[in-house]
Amino acid sequence: MKAIILCAGKGTRLRPLTFTIAKHLIPIANKPVIFYSLEKIKNVGIEEIGIIVNPENINDFKELLGNGSKFGLKIEYIIQEEPKGLAHAAWIAKDFIGEEDFLMYLGDNLILDDITPFIEEFKTHEELQASILLSPVKDPTRFGIAVVKNGEIIQVVEKPKDPPSNLAIIGLYLFRKSIFEGIKNIKPSWRGELEITDAIDYLIRNKHKVKGHIIYGWWKDTGKPEDLIEANRKILDDNYPKTTVKGIIDPTSDIQGRISIGENSEIINSTIRGPVVIGDNCVIKDSFIGPYSSIGDNVIIENCEIENSIIMDNVKLLNLPYPIDSSLIGKHVQIIESEKKPKAMRFVIGDMGKVEIVR
Ligand code: DAU
Repeated sequence: MKAIILCAGKGTRLRPLTFTIAKHLIPIANKPVIFYSLEKIKNVGIEEIGIIVNPENINDFKELLGNGSKFGLKIEYIIQEEPKGLAHAAWIAKDFIGEEDFLMYLGDNLILDDITPFIEEFKTHEELQASILLSPVKDPTRFGIAVVKNGEIIQVVEKPKDPPSNLAIIGLYLFRKSIFEGIKNIKPSWRGELEITDAIDYLIRNKHKVKGHIIYGWWKDTGKPEDLIEANRKILDDNYPKTTVKGIIDPTSDIQGRISIGENSEIINSTIRGPVVIGDNCVIKDSFIGPYSSIGDNVIIENCEIENSIIMDNVKLLNLPYPIDSSLIGKHVQIIESEKKPKAMRFVIGDMGKVEIVR
């Protein structure tokens, strides 16, 4: 079995971050989102992975993951020129997939459940032509929705106005090559995309068996800033970090709870209340870093309070009068107190940036 991970979308709801970084490379608990799916795929014994990328982001993925050998994987990159839909992305991976069954993984989805039972069931039930991971949701109009009867899916519909069930399709699909027959027979949807949901619907209407595999654990489609902040909280809570200190903590600092501090990082006269992960070469001085904060590499924080936030590499935060909470701060951002006159706020913010201030 092979796997494809879909990472070619535009990530519009995460702008301005996604002007310079694919959403699948944004760090959660200091690890790019895509690492979590690669780990899941590797854990079920799949080694050959095709990553569907776009012409703008391919080099970022290549730089980070290379040919996969450093992760014990074989990674190939498949360019989708335009995001013409999930079914289109699967279609262009046809040569890579060859005759094999495959796992299709939406690269912006994070799940914590073990997917081994999902894979094993598909391997042992040859009569199944597809198997889809499902989860009950409160807002079914935002997802592809499935209706299940005796474990088998009898209907799928993409983002319905009037949902026939609350079981969302959550971004992991198992297919045999029959899916390509489905893809060949569908037309673009109202949003102009070739929908994988419609290709699955084709299989069902043509009497193929499609299984719904329901999970009840936490999962997230990390499409919006608040999703990433929630995912960061969940992952720090559940599996990160084990307390490890590679840097230096001075005697006037107070460390509480589970924390991880990277190499050459210095904590000076500060309180760190875990779960918190801090990368390499950071300086945290006269500050409070509160629970659920992930701080990247080369970050300088002085005289600030931060909580429940993702701070990416090379950020500088100096002498801020109010705490930073529930924030997502991209690489090389500086938020600093200024002595300059006139006494005013001065911004250099990229397109679609968002600043919320306190009075
Ligand atoms: O998150 C689960 C939902 O994902 C499912 O419930 C829906 O049935 C499914 O259609 C999908 O809906 P989204 O609208 O959330 O899909 P999105 O456009 O966000 O794309 C999901 C991933 O696939 C994302 O990592 C980008 C990538 N992608 C997307 C498109 C449209 C591609 O690689 N190529 C594409 O053409």
